[in-house]
Amino acid sequence: MLTYSNTPVQTLQHPLFDEHNLQVLIKREDLNHPFVSGNKWWKLNYNLEEAKKLGYTTLLTFGGAHSNHIYATAAAAKEVGLKAIGIIRGDELSVQNNATLRFAHEQGMDLHFVSREDYRKRNEQNFTNTLINKFGKAYIIPEGGTNNLAVQGVALFSAKLHQEIDFDYLCCAVGTGGTLAGLIKGLPHKKLLGFSSLKGNFMEAEVKKVLQSDATNWTINSDYHFGGYGKYNQVLLDFINKAEKDFNIPLEQVYTGKMFFGVLDLISRNFFPEKSKILLLHTGGMQGKIQG
Ligand SMILES: Cc1ncc(COP(=O)(O)O)c(C=O)c1O
Repeated sequence: MLTYSNTPVQTLQHPLFDEHNLQVLIKREDLNHPFVSGNKWWKLNYNLEEAKKLGYTTLLTFGGAHSNHIYATAAAAKEVGLKAIGIIRGDELSVQNNATLRFAHEQGMDLHFVSREDYRKRNEQNFTNTLINKFGKAYIIPEGGTNNLAVQGVALFSAKLHQEIDFDYLCCAVGTGGTLAGLIKGLPHKKLLGFSSLKGNFMEAEVKKVLQSDATNWTINSDYHFGGYGKYNQVLLDFINKAEKDFNIPLEQVYTGKMFFGVLDLISRNFFPEKSKILLLHTGGMQGKIQG
């Protein structure tokens, strides 16, 4: 089991919330672990337990150069005494390319850089067989850490959250959809709003694929991606700088910053009925923050 710190729920104050007669709170799950923060903890912990139970000594996973998942997996594997292999998108990259890769390397993750063409095959059995032949037996975790155990882990978190605090809406950032799927599973009687960090309208189908249920208590908003995954503009950066000061909460521009922007914009457009209690989930990943 990874070490876990209990995290607070903070009430947010803003004239906009009073004007619309709303209560807005944030669950600071970003504070649950210094390196395996937010949703990463819940997505990885039960996979680590399973890997150990099945007798694996090595994890193998996939990610891009700035991946929070690679960063978190490297630290998590080190903490529980597993070896880790990271298959990284981009054969032009090296360990020295950025702080995420350097950190993963320092944690002991063995980084292997593959072409974008090969990386696209990451979910194909033939490709993973080649990797196993090359690196030896390993417990494979998909890109972004989303698999059944990750969804179950997030569902456990949401059951805990349900006991801790009452709310009407839960809002979270969406990347691969695993976190939202787990929240939907664990909170069948709440309204869940996912804010996609990626461009396009495919995310709903992705979540359905992971979720494998016909639950209808959720929607995905794809209006606040700011150009796509990892993209941002000065409007978003200025918003984040101001929101960090107004609310005294750290935000980054890949996930939670976009979700936060989306929620405030929807509030100003009267999306939420008066007297609603809206809970935002801070999913961590502050290592990916750029200064702007
Ligand atoms: C900080 C952070 N928030 C939210 C997400 C979105 O999670 P998911 O990929 O499960 O949709 C991610 C990516 O995994 C993340 O790193």
